[in-house]
Amino acid sequence: IAEPAVAEPVSWWQAAREALLQEAAAGTPAYVYHLPTLRRQARAFAGIDALERRFYAVKANAHPAVLTALAEEGFGFECVSLPELQHVRRTLSDLPAGRLLFTPSFASRAEYAGACDSADWLTLDSLYPLRHWPELFAGRRLVLRIDPGYGLGHHAHVKTGGPEAKFGLALDDVSAFVEAARVIGAEIAVLHAHVGSGVQDAGHWAQLFAQLAHVADGIGTVAAINVGGGLAVPYRDGEAEFDIAALAAALAEARRQWPQYALWMEPGRYLTAQAGVLLARVSQVVDKLGVRRIGLDAGMNALMRPALYQAKHRIVNLSRIGDADGPRVDVVGPICESTDVLARQVTLPADTAEGDVLLIDTAGAYGFVMANHYNLRDLPREVIFDV
Ligand code: LLP
Repeated sequence: IAEPAVAEPVSWWQAAREALLQEAAAGTPAYVYHLPTLRRQARAFAGIDALERRFYAVKANAHPAVLTALAEEGFGFECVSLPELQHVRRTLSDLPAGRLLFTPSFASRAEYAGACDSADWLTLDSLYPLRHWPELFAGRRLVLRIDPGYGLGHHAHVKTGGPEAKFGLALDDVSAFVEAARVIGAEIAVLHAHVGSGVQDAGHWAQLFAQLAHVADGIGTVAAINVGGGLAVPYRDGEAEFDIAALAAALAEARRQWPQYALWMEPGRYLTAQAGVLLARVSQVVDKLGVRRIGLDAGMNALMRPALYQAKHRIVNLSRIGDADGPRVDVVGPICESTDVLARQVTLPADTAEGDVLLIDTAGAYGFVMANHYNLRDLPREVIFDV
């Protein structure tokens, strides 16, 4: 008996091909978000019993339908700016107390002042706000973001810890921070760290929890530890899904050792990346000096990740599924920059032609939110599929 072939994972968009082609006819570039896939990811994450609270990192994808679905799945929201806080408040008028967390970077006094009114939890990651604007924080229970001394992630640009990073209070400065907080009657209720994005090692968050628990032991007022987000997702064929069961097991063990500290996390990409695709239309097919380029109406203006991080997104010709592949091609956008390349040396059907609809996969996180108007191009459309 022949071994059964290993099945390729089936993505939601394979079943939705006709509907996606219709949607593309209404205008490209367009991001399409599939809420059942978002809910599947949310429930997988919610299955981690060791977590007391889970926040969604709004920066990954701020579409109102995404926020609404995640609120229904019991998530709170981690916001990096006052506009993000206001957007969540406007979108979710009945968000239960305690669900809104502000984790800014180099926020101004005015931004912290605004956040004091709308966020449940304020994160500080240096002594500056405490020393210069003590009136904002007096008497409050605060979150303190620590730089544990190292960064991790899929690219140097997304590491958020260690000497090169602007984020977090150095471990050496913790006692000065604790003293400055005590002087104004504030208390450190939560310790936080987020060392980067696209972390594959499921053991990382338990190690971080242990490191922060030792710091918390020395502070004495800490009730919870937030170990950030950063869970990786597969982008390329053959890459494994993140091992959520291994994460759950490691966190359960960490909590057994430090039952006195509640555990929080704040993923973004894990929840939304696989729920989103970008649809674009072929504009031209050009051969130059031995390189074939497939031109699209979406480039680094619509999806910055390949230009910024050399990120690899799978690209599929939705109009010609099953046609024989041709030689390798570069997929490029319409922007006047040499980095405007969505993929280099990938295979697409040999007969790929003007007007075809291409799908750029795993684009639901850090896609639309990072799109821009460069060259005065319009932003992509955003569309929700909930079937
Ligand atoms: N918490 C904090 C404090 C963060 O700064 C971030 C992401 C997250 C949570 C969520 O991380 P996630 O679970 O999504 O990895 N634009 C880059 C990623 C930048 C991440 C910024 N901070 C990319 O497209 O790969």
